[in-house]
Amino acid sequence: MSGFCMDKVKNAVLTGASKGIGKKILEKLALEKINVWCLCRTWSEEFSEYIEKLEKENGVWIKHVFCDLSSENSIRTAASTVLLDKNAIDYLINCAGINYRNSFLMTSAEDMKNVFQVNYYSPIRLIQLLAKNMIRNGGGKIINISSASGFEHNIGTFAYGASKNALNWATETMSRELAPFGIVVNGVAPGITDTDINKGNEVEIEKVISNMNIHRKANPDEIADIVMFLLSDKASYISGHIIRVDGGRVK
Ligand SMILES: NC(=O)c1ccc[n+]([C@@H]2O[C@H](COP(=O)([O-])OP(=O)(O)OC[C@H]3O[C@@H](n4cnc5c(N)ncnc54)[C@H](OP(=O)(O)O)[C@@H]3O)[C@@H](O)[C@H]2O)c1
Repeated sequence: MSGFCMDKVKNAVLTGASKGIGKKILEKLALEKINVWCLCRTWSEEFSEYIEKLEKENGVWIKHVFCDLSSENSIRTAASTVLLDKNAIDYLINCAGINYRNSFLMTSAEDMKNVFQVNYYSPIRLIQLLAKNMIRNGGGKIINISSASGFEHNIGTFAYGASKNALNWATETMSRELAPFGIVVNGVAPGITDTDINKGNEVEIEKVISNMNIHRKANPDEIADIVMFLLSDKASYISGHIIRVDGGRVK
């Protein structure tokens, strides 16, 4: 892709790098010679080997910072670890998320809180904790991964859709608050993408796909490419938008 100015070494913070869309974003960041702190709770031996390979092939560092996004304490500790490194944070990509399908009446308060904690509070808390580093270093770019569900009102998506809709609102509002500090905030809202998050929902997914303009799932590359475009200098005039990458979900 390039479109990334190579005047200085760039560093990114990424959540959700262990698999799916986040893993593809990690791979593409490394290809652009961008160092990455991966805020992950899962880090297998196989994943470590994959990281070592990415580091060697691309001449970057990729650090694992343990972070369970369902815990405020863990988020704070992870953010402190990143800040202690004293490197500039150029990019923050909040990709981690959890799916939750249930009817409104059957959605417990506990489940709703958990979905909101991971999908909504964790990205905004990370932004609050890390933006000061960006401000000190003259700015940065933030991408929040939302969902097409955040724009729709489909039965069974009450907690998930609401959490992503709230994230969209936060993304747009933060883009205004943080713009004076040189921080650009945008969102990417994927549609159905071929990752583990959709396991077990095949029947629902087929129904959605049949109503789309493009009758197939996205592959994670197609989502990660848009994230990379938004991070790149090619997107220098885009701020406060949520880009829908959903195969044409026309209502
Ligand atoms: N795939 C789709 O169809 C689709 C559609 C719309 C939006 N999205 C959004 O895209 C993003 C990425 O999802 P994906 O499709 O790549 O799903 P995925 O393959 O299931 O990956 C989800 C990622 O989030 C991480 N995560 C979940 N809970 C966490 C927690 N408590 N602490 C730390 N990390 C946690 C997972 O880490 P572990 O490995 O530790 O579980 C994993 O890395 C999500 O925000 C999702 O809502 C996906």
